[in-house]
Amino acid sequence: MSLVAYVNNRFLPLESATVHIEDRGFQFADGVYEVVACIGGCFLDLDLHLDRLQRSCSAIGIALPCSGDKLEALIRETWKRNPYTDAMVYIQITRGAAPRSHLPSESMHPTLIITSRELPKPGDEKLTQGASGITLRDFRWKRCDIKSIALLASVMGKQEAHRQDADEAFWLDEDDHVLEGCSTNIFAVIDGTLVTHPLDHQVLGGITRRMLIRIARDAGIEVAERPWKLAEATLSECMLTSTTNAVLPVCHMDGSPVASGAPGPVATQLRTLMLQAMDELRQS
Ligand code: PDD
Repeated sequence: MSLVAYVNNRFLPLESATVHIEDRGFQFADGVYEVVACIGGCFLDLDLHLDRLQRSCSAIGIALPCSGDKLEALIRETWKRNPYTDAMVYIQITRGAAPRSHLPSESMHPTLIITSRELPKPGDEKLTQGASGITLRDFRWKRCDIKSIALLASVMGKQEAHRQDADEAFWLDEDDHVLEGCSTNIFAVIDGTLVTHPLDHQVLGGITRRMLIRIARDAGIEVAERPWKLAEATLSECMLTSTTNAVLPVCHMDGSPVASGAPGPVATQLRTLMLQAMDELRQS
C-alpha cells in the first residue's frame, strides 16, 4: 500500500519524498519533532502538541514554516491521504538546507515533513505481563525539555534495552532519581501516591504524562511531581506513558520484579480510564 508524505509544500509518495543532503536536520540534527495520535479521525490533544512544537522551535530559534492553522490543516490532510484510521502522525521541522556551517544563516527556509503511520498497539503479552525496563545513567544533553531530533542517546539506550531483552531504558540522574525513558515518561506508585519527576530540563513534558496526571486526580488518586527512586521502600508499581503506548505497567526493572512483578491495581485502573477517554474521543 502506497503511503503519502508531506514535504515542503508537496504531498508525495513516501518512496520519493526526500530532503536535500545539506538539510541541517541531516547534518546537525538541527530540528525538532512531534508525534501525535489520531484515533478514529480525532487527534488527541493536537493543540498541546502544536504548543509544544512551537516551544521547541522557539527554544532553538526556528520560525514555524507556516501559521498554526495551516500546520493543523496539513497534519489533518496527511492523515486523510494515508490509510490508517488510528494513526501516529509524525511532524518534523528543521532549520532548512544550506552549505554546511555550524552558525546558521538567518535567511533559511525551514523544512517541514509530515508522515502518518499506523498507531502501534501494545501486544496482549505486554498488557497482561507488563513492560520491562533497564536503568542507565543519564548521558543525554541538558535540554531534554526540547523535543529535539538529536536522539542518538535514546537510540543507544533502546539498543541496550533490547540487548538485555527489555522494552525501554530509563535514565537515572547522579543520585539515582528516575527521570524518564528513551521515548516515554515514567511514574511510580509510592505509598499510594502517583509520583513522577517534576518538569525541568531533564525530562520532556509528555502530553500523555499530563493526561495521566489529570485522569488520576479526577479518579481521586493523589499525584506528586517530585524526584523519586526505585529503591523507595513503599514503591508498589511503575508505569510508563507516551503517545504510542498510552499508559503501560512496567513490571520488571533491571531483571528484577517491580513489587509483585505483575500489573498493579493503580496502573490497571488508569489504563482502563485512559482507554475509555480515548474511546469517547473516537465516538465524538
Ligand atoms: N516520544 N519522553 C521522551 C524522551 C519522549 O521521546 C517521549 C515521546 C515522551 C512521551 O511524550 P508524549 O506523551 O508527548 O508522547 C517522553 C515519542 C512518542 C517518540 O519519540 O516517538
